[in-house]
Amino acid sequence: MRLLLLGAPGVGKGTQSKLLVEKFKIPQISTGDMLREAIKANSALGIKAKSFMDKGSLVPDDVIIDLAAERIRASDCANGFILDGFPRTIAQAEALDRLLAEKHISLDHVIEITVSQTNLVERLSNRVICRNCGSVYNKLTNPPKVSNVCDKCGGEVYQRSDDTRDAIVQRLKVYENETAPLRDYYRGKKQLTHVNGEQPVAQVYQNILTLLERQ
Ligand code: AP5
Ligand code: MG
Repeated sequence: MRLLLLGAPGVGKGTQSKLLVEKFKIPQISTGDMLREAIKANSALGIKAKSFMDKGSLVPDDVIIDLAAERIRASDCANGFILDGFPRTIAQAEALDRLLAEKHISLDHVIEITVSQTNLVERLSNRVICRNCGSVYNKLTNPPKVSNVCDKCGGEVYQRSDDTRDAIVQRLKVYENETAPLRDYYRGKKQLTHVNGEQPVAQVYQNILTLLERQ
């Protein structure tokens, strides 16, 4: 199964990907997580990406396309993958299509998760994640059982440096300008389906499973 989860910052792409990874045993490809790993490792990629990410801007297409292509070509993606946060521009979507065509495969599902802007700001302002395994929490609605400690792996839970008010506003703006056009791109290919992300996590998950069973 090759699945793309589309949606603005905070709609729950990461949260849902983690559930789908457990069920289908295929990897989540989150370019955001990969870039945060690069920042942690202080690599040349990380140093370059950090300045874009902290402002809430997109990292340049050429950098992201190489990063994602290398990941999709890895052997653990042979049985499928979940794309979370890639592609994010038309140029990235076209590069993905070329890559998939090279491998004689295509996406099976493109699911857009939608949530109102007000709720997105509220969710992102209160999100915390595990530095070690990337598990996603929310200080208000889904806090870790022990403050700042991940329930799953015991890792340190922290607030992302782009979950500041200014960066959140910028990320939502960038989404509308750069990423929302992908809706029409995938609608044109008759691949786009939708899930209402303003329901409890378990309900959003069930609705995604229903869509996956449909085709
Ligand atoms: P990335 O890490 O991909 O961030 P994002 O797209 O901004 O999305 P988020 O991770 O913020 O949100 P999410 O949808 O995963 O929500 P989550 O599940 O965490 O990218 C970060 C940056 O990296 C970009 O800004 C850019 O600079 C760069 N980058 C990455 N990919 C790139 C690309 N392809 N091209 C160029 N640059 C790129 O949930 C959010 C919160 O809501 C949590 O607190 C969670 O607990 C809560 N929540 C989730 N679901 C629900 C629910 N159903 N009900 C209530 N609360 C919920
Ligand atoms: Mg995410």
